[in-house]
Amino acid sequence: MSQKADNLIAVLDAGSAKTRFLIAELNDGALRYRGHGIVDSAGTRKGVIAELAPAVQSINQAATQAEDRADATIEQCIISIGGPHIRGLNSRGGISLGTRLREITREDVRAAVDRARSISLPPDREIIHLLPQQFVLDEQAGIHDPVGMVGNRLEVNLHIATCSASAQQSIVTCANKAGLEVTETVLESIAAAEATISADERELGVCLIDIGASTSELIVFFEGSVAHTSVIPIGGDHFSNDLAVGLHVTPPEAEWIKCQYGNAVVTSVSQLTEIELQGMPGFEPRVVRQRLIGEILEPRARELFHMLRDNLRQGGVLEALGAGCVLTGGGARLAGLLDVAESQLRVPARIGSPVPLSRMPQELAQPECATLIGTLLYTHRTSVMRAAEDHSLRAKLRAIFAGSL
Ligand SMILES: Nc1ncnc2c1ncn2[C@@H]1O[C@H](COP(=O)(O)OP(=O)(O)OP(=O)(O)O)[C@@H](O)[C@H]1O
Ligand SMILES: [Mg+2]
Repeated sequence: MSQKADNLIAVLDAGSAKTRFLIAELNDGALRYRGHGIVDSAGTRKGVIAELAPAVQSINQAATQAEDRADATIEQCIISIGGPHIRGLNSRGGISLGTRLREITREDVRAAVDRARSISLPPDREIIHLLPQQFVLDEQAGIHDPVGMVGNRLEVNLHIATCSASAQQSIVTCANKAGLEVTETVLESIAAAEATISADERELGVCLIDIGASTSELIVFFEGSVAHTSVIPIGGDHFSNDLAVGLHVTPPEAEWIKCQYGNAVVTSVSQLTEIELQGMPGFEPRVVRQRLIGEILEPRARELFHMLRDNLRQGGVLEALGAGCVLTGGGARLAGLLDVAESQLRVPARIGSPVPLSRMPQELAQPECATLIGTLLYTHRTSVMRAAEDHSLRAKLRAIFAGSL
């Protein structure tokens, strides 16, 4: 009989190409893999849910696969969110602590963050994350945690990630219709970074780009904090569509050719190799040079990284990538893409494979699962941090009351 346990955590990544579901178990602070499900997504278009019923069915199938493997029943999950509607912006605000110097409390930090976040957003915008970059205490900048320090004025530089409220609600509704309550939402790029990027890289400056099916989400860390988030409206499916049009083949055949023979650098492909194409229904199979595939894919790869470079320049972070660039998402698997990334961004690039959970199958240790695993790791880490804060607050209150007795 399947179990319903309190120590199980479930995460859902309803992507444009694949719907992924993961169940993990938390024992003595350690996460352990229990089960996963991956199915083709239905009902999504251009990175957002366009039809509820097929999307609900995909979520149901992925969750059921995972539940069967885990031998458990899940009623709640954490979701990741991404797509063309994601926006990131930097804001600054602060509070005066009065004329007398005094110690900064966690409440002061919250008040400063509240001031920095109080910007007017368009009606359909929902804040997903408030990410402090640095605190400035009087004239002193570069502070990561000001609690316990002494000063007159506390300011904070904040990165605010927002999404379309209706796009977010669509995923929540689909999850609900699949019998799952959504407890938390995590930005896909933050999740992918959590699973693949080290603290040293975040400190030096690094850009992660998660190349999904319909969009590519990016996030830049500098001096340990999130400096920039954005979305490029090109994903792996744009490469497949170019092949379908250029080679006159069906979309599924184009997808297969891309994964099998694709290369984003024309000169890496031999001039002599030829491959046979089935072509459109009703036409005879044809033979083409493999190089032709590279000739179609390379301009799209250059366009993607050209747009990324412009985006980073506009965000003022192009020169901040001391540790280079990390590629995740299924689109990162295209042969030759790292070379294009390095030549366009002029920094080292690597594929980001997620850190494995205990007992996790090798199948999940792939760049397209970085968001799924990272969502789990991010929510676990942040909930541990919140619990530690609550604990220290309770300890302080206990000390105050003990002292007043
Ligand atoms: N071996 C491969 N070579 C090239 N591209 C690949 C390969 N494997 C997968 N892809 C591409 O990766 C894309 C899917 O990536 P992923 O599974 O990360 O997307 P998703 O999370 O479902 O979508 P999104 O994040 O945009 O919502 C598809 O466009 C697919 O063609
Ligand atoms: Mg994705």
